[in-house]
Amino acid sequence: MSATLTLIAVVSADGFISTGVGVPWDLPADRAHFRAYTQEKWLLLGRRTFEEMQGWFQPGHHPLVLTHDLKLEVLHGSTVSTVPEALRLAQRELVCCGGAETYEAAMPHAHRLVITQVHQILGRGLAFPEISSREWEPVSRRTHGVDSDHAFALEIVTYQRIQRLDLAA
Ligand SMILES: NC(=O)c1ccc[n+]([C@@H]2O[C@H](COP(=O)([O-])OP(=O)(O)OC[C@H]3O[C@@H](n4cnc5c(N)ncnc54)[C@H](OP(=O)(O)O)[C@@H]3O)[C@@H](O)[C@H]2O)c1
Repeated sequence: MSATLTLIAVVSADGFISTGVGVPWDLPADRAHFRAYTQEKWLLLGRRTFEEMQGWFQPGHHPLVLTHDLKLEVLHGSTVSTVPEALRLAQRELVCCGGAETYEAAMPHAHRLVITQVHQILGRGLAFPEISSREWEPVSRRTHGVDSDHAFALEIVTYQRIQRLDLAA
């Protein structure tokens, strides 16, 4: 049986994950949440995000890098050329860590979304795919206000895919 797929992302109030290069926020509460959620997990990363995150991976992570370059070297992990291939390789929950192209490819296969919504308008950038209320329902919500370490308030919202009984029949 395939693993389940979770997408984890930090998204601006107007739906962007980045203005181009890098994540545009430094929010310790989100960093701690990301580190805790991804601990000891199988991770799916686009090749560009994988390159940005070099040096971040820890023992117990199993990085799977989505790329057309099957010769790419991935320490303690491997390359994949499709999301279903990553789901077949992962032995338990697979967590997709972006970026934009990779979220787009992974969204149709996702079971859960863990979204840090930052209360800031970016105005432009790389977008996270639409979270349709017909397909996704929020099941938990945790908030963190502005303080000396957080220039913006944030909410960590978990969504589950709505089970369509008419399709399951
Ligand atoms: N806010 C957040 O939560 C968050 C999270 C992660 C990343 N980011 C930001 O997002 C940006 C990167 O996003 P991005 O969209 O430019 O890059 P990306 O998704 O990280 O990587 C893109 C690369 O992945 C491979 N790829 C993508 N779709 C594929 C497919 N269907 N089949 C095979 N390979 C595929 C290709 O690699 P090859 O070119 O090697 O073939 C492509 O060039 C960065 O700024 C990063 O900081 C933000």
